[in-house]
Amino acid sequence: MIDLTTQYLGHTLKNPLIASASPLTKELGSIKKLEDYGIGAVVMHSLFEEQINHEQHQLDHFLHNSNHSYAEALDYLPSDIDFTNIEADDYLEEIRRIKESVDIPIIASLNGVSSGGWIKYGRKLQEAGADALELNITYIPTSLSLDSSQVEELYLKTLRDLKEHISIPLNLKMNPYFSAPAHMAKKFVEAGVSGLTLFDNPVEVDIDLEKLIPLHKANITSSKDKSETLRWCAILYNKLEVDICANTGIHSGLDLLKALMSGADVCSFTSVLLQKGEQEIEHILKQMLTWMEEKEYSSTDQMRGSISLAHTSNPDVYERNSYIGALQSFQR
Ligand SMILES: Cc1cc2nc3c(=O)[nH]c(=O)nc-3n(C[C@H](O)[C@H](O)[C@H](O)COP(=O)(O)O)c2cc1C
Repeated sequence: MIDLTTQYLGHTLKNPLIASASPLTKELGSIKKLEDYGIGAVVMHSLFEEQINHEQHQLDHFLHNSNHSYAEALDYLPSDIDFTNIEADDYLEEIRRIKESVDIPIIASLNGVSSGGWIKYGRKLQEAGADALELNITYIPTSLSLDSSQVEELYLKTLRDLKEHISIPLNLKMNPYFSAPAHMAKKFVEAGVSGLTLFDNPVEVDIDLEKLIPLHKANITSSKDKSETLRWCAILYNKLEVDICANTGIHSGLDLLKALMSGADVCSFTSVLLQKGEQEIEHILKQMLTWMEEKEYSSTDQMRGSISLAHTSNPDVYERNSYIGALQSFQR
């Protein structure tokens, strides 16, 4: 009997498969379906800062003033916070309903860009029954006068502030655009995160040449998109006291095995479920188990991190040599 149980964000998951935030994790009905097909945990679709709309002025203040008064924008907190808000309250009600009806851990998701009073909503998500909280900070720094340390401080302050309002484990869905992602991961752990999701996937940008307007579309990935996910799971494995979730480009049981061997504790995915339906979870599990049986693995713990950079004395040199080797060995 192969042991797939996995510790993640303080919970025991029956397997390392997680449905990441998407329209499939919005309502009880579809979450129940994910559970029935065998998913280990679910990240709910995000509640956006903009939906907690009493705080809209805080967001506007941050986004419009970041050029000239960044410090002031960070410290600006509305004094009297009233969270009577229909969209956000619906979200809370849905968590309560889901928690009453399913047995798997439910991770709520907050998505925002500023450290305003809206962040106190984390406490409400916890009180509604969320087992953990994922924070997704999606901020494109378009200002020429905002430097990297200021952007990094935005992330850290938002995390620290959110942490003050919750006692459930906090996970950060990271993006890969920091100039030193390993150092940032360390800073995030110091700010109190229990988990890091590597990585968020940006929305696709294009241009409609008929209407002459920009287009932004939710990005459906393929298995080829998992490259950065594997690279950074392998680099960060065993370096920090943090759970690692591989996200982006995980489309099959074989992708999942690769992510675990790179060092991920769990894997989350969306695109493959949107393309093939929730029943694909069974196929992914079966493919993973068949491979493990053939290779005589008895647990996922046994293979975790086996192909990481943990035993490489100089990862920088390893990455550089692999890069040169890949280019020089190319054959037409
Ligand atoms: C239609 C759609 C909706 C999504 N909604 C959210 C969301 O609400 N919050 C979030 O953090 N990520 C959201 N994502 C991103 C996914 O959770 C996931 O990180 C991304 O799709 C990469 O994983 P994949 O390669 O398995 O698709 C969404 C993705 C898609 C395609």
